Amino acid sequence: MLDNLKNHYKKLSSNNLDNLFIKDPKRFNKYSVNACDILLDYSKNWISKETLRLYQKFLKQIDFDTQKEKMFTGEKINTTENRAVLHTALRNSSDKSIFVDGKNVLPLIKKELNRIEKFCNDVHVGKFVGHSGKRIKYVVNIGIGGSDLGPHMVTEALRPFHKTSFPEIFFVSNVDGAHIKDTLSKINIEQTLFLIASKTFTTQETMANAEIAKKTLLEYYQNNHSAIKSHFAALSTNKSAVEKFGINKNYMFIFWDWVGGRYSLWSSIGLSIALFLGMDNFKKLLAGAENMDNHFRNTPISENIPILLAIIGFGNNNFLQMNSHAILPYSQHLHRFPSFIQQLDMESNGKSVTKDGKTLHIPTGPVIWGESGTNGQHAFYQLIHQGTQIVPCDFIAVVNPQHDYIDSNNMLVANCIAQSQALLMGRKSEEVIREMNNQNKSDEEIKKLLAHKTFKGNRPSNTIILKELNPYTLGSLIAMYEHKIFTQGIMWDINSFDQFGVELGKVLTNKILKHINKNSLINSNDCSFDSSTRGIISYVNSNLIEK
Ligand code: F6P
Repeated sequence: MLDNLKNHYKKLSSNNLDNLFIKDPKRFNKYSVNACDILLDYSKNWISKETLRLYQKFLKQIDFDTQKEKMFTGEKINTTENRAVLHTALRNSSDKSIFVDGKNVLPLIKKELNRIEKFCNDVHVGKFVGHSGKRIKYVVNIGIGGSDLGPHMVTEALRPFHKTSFPEIFFVSNVDGAHIKDTLSKINIEQTLFLIASKTFTTQETMANAEIAKKTLLEYYQNNHSAIKSHFAALSTNKSAVEKFGINKNYMFIFWDWVGGRYSLWSSIGLSIALFLGMDNFKKLLAGAENMDNHFRNTPISENIPILLAIIGFGNNNFLQMNSHAILPYSQHLHRFPSFIQQLDMESNGKSVTKDGKTLHIPTGPVIWGESGTNGQHAFYQLIHQGTQIVPCDFIAVVNPQHDYIDSNNMLVANCIAQSQALLMGRKSEEVIREMNNQNKSDEEIKKLLAHKTFKGNRPSNTIILKELNPYTLGSLIAMYEHKIFTQGIMWDINSFDQFGVELGKVLTNKILKHINKNSLINSNDCSFDSSTRGIISYVNSNLIEK
C-alpha cells in the first residue's frame, strides 16, 4: 500500500502546485473544510481525489477506525506502559461510561472538576486566602513539559478573557534559579498561591523550584509550617509524594495515569487556567475540545480535519522528503502555541520503532518549530521561501481580534494570506525582469540579480482560520492537533504515548550532578565518562566561583 502511495506522490508532485490551481479553478472548494469553527484550507498541497482514495484504503488496511475507537473507549493502547489514553474522557460531557480496569472514569473526572470549581470559586471570592488573611492576587504554576506548556500557552492565548479581579498568573519551569528568582521578585508572597504541577511529583526541575518556593514562604513566616496549606496546592497523580512535600490533601487535585503529560491541560493540571480565566472559560475550552473529539470520531476522512492534516503531513514527510514542519500562528496571543505543539508532536511521534519494537526504516515525526507571525517573517522566512530545504507550514489566522486596532489586524491577516500565496506561486524570472526593467536597471544588473530575486515557489502549506480566538475555538484547535498526531502515530504504527527518549538525559544528569562542585576531582581514568564529558566537567568545576 505504501508503494502505491509512493508512486502516486511521485506522479502528483511532478506537477507544480500552482499548475494544480490553473488546471482546477475549483481547487479551494474541493480541498477545504469548514467544521468546529475552523476553516482548513489544504488545497496548497499535493493532494487530489486519488490521494484521498489511496489514504482511505490505507487507513482501512491498518484498521484505523478500530484503533481510534480503542483510544476513545479506554483500551490500554499505551502498550509499553500498559495504560489507557483518555485525555478525551476529560472533556466528555456525555452520560455514557468509560471503563478503565473495571471502573467508570467519568464520575471520577466530574468529581475532580467539581473540586476544582469550588476551589477556584473560593479563591475568586476570597474564601481561600493567604496565611495572613490577604486575598490571593498571584498564582505561580511550578511545572515543566506538559505540566507547564499547555496551561502556559492557554493562559497567554486567552489573556483577553482574564478578569482583573482574578489572580495574575506566572509560570516557572526552568531549573535555572533565575526563573524562580525573577518570578518571586514580581509577586507578594502573602498573596501568592503556588501550584506544584507534576504528574509524577518527582521531576527534578519542578521539585527543585517547589523547594525554593517552600523555603521562601517558610522564611517569610518564620518557619511556621501551617502557612503551607494557605499557599500551596498540588496537581498530581502521586498522593504520597504530595503528602511528603507537606501539601494539605484538601488542596491536592488529582488526575490519573491514563492522562499523558502533554495531554494534561484538560485535567487538574489546568487549575492555573481555571484560576486565571474562571471556571466558565475552562469549561468552554473543554467543550470546544469535545466538539473536535466528536468531529474526529464521526466524520468521514474527506471532511475530517485532523485526519486530513495527518495525511498531508505523512505525505510531505514520507514521500516528499520534507522532514520539518513549521507552526506559524498569526496571533500574538498564540505566541506559545508552536512550543506547545512541539512537545505534543515531537514527544509523541519522535520514535524509531514500531509498537512491537521493530526498527522503522521510514521517517516518523517531523521536526516541529515555529514562531508567531509576523515576527517569524523577519527571522527565518528567508529560508522558508528560498532555502534548499522545503518546510511545509501551518499558517494559523484569526479573523476577529480581541482588540480594536482593526487596521493592525487587517495587516496581520493580509501578511498571513500573502505568505502562503508566495510559497505557492513563488516569483518567476519574467516577473523579476519586468520589475527591474520598470526600475530602469541595466541588463548587466538584471543578469547579476535575477537568480537571487527569483523564488521557485511550489512549497506546500495549510491555512487554518478561526473566526475568533476564544476558549471554545482554542479547545477545538488544540484537540485538532492532538488527533492529527494520534492519526500519524497509527499510520507509522508507533506508540505515541510513551517518552522513554527523555529518560537517559535525566539519569546521566543525576550522575554528573554528583561531580559538579569545586572539589570534585574527576579521575582521568574514570571510564563512566567519555573524555569530552570529563573535560567539560573539569572545566566547569575549575571555574566555579564559591559563594
Ligand atoms: O519531558 C518528559 C516528561 O515526562 C513529559 O512527558 C512531562 O510532561 C514532563 O516530563 C513533566 O513531568 P511531570 O508532570 O511528571 O513533572
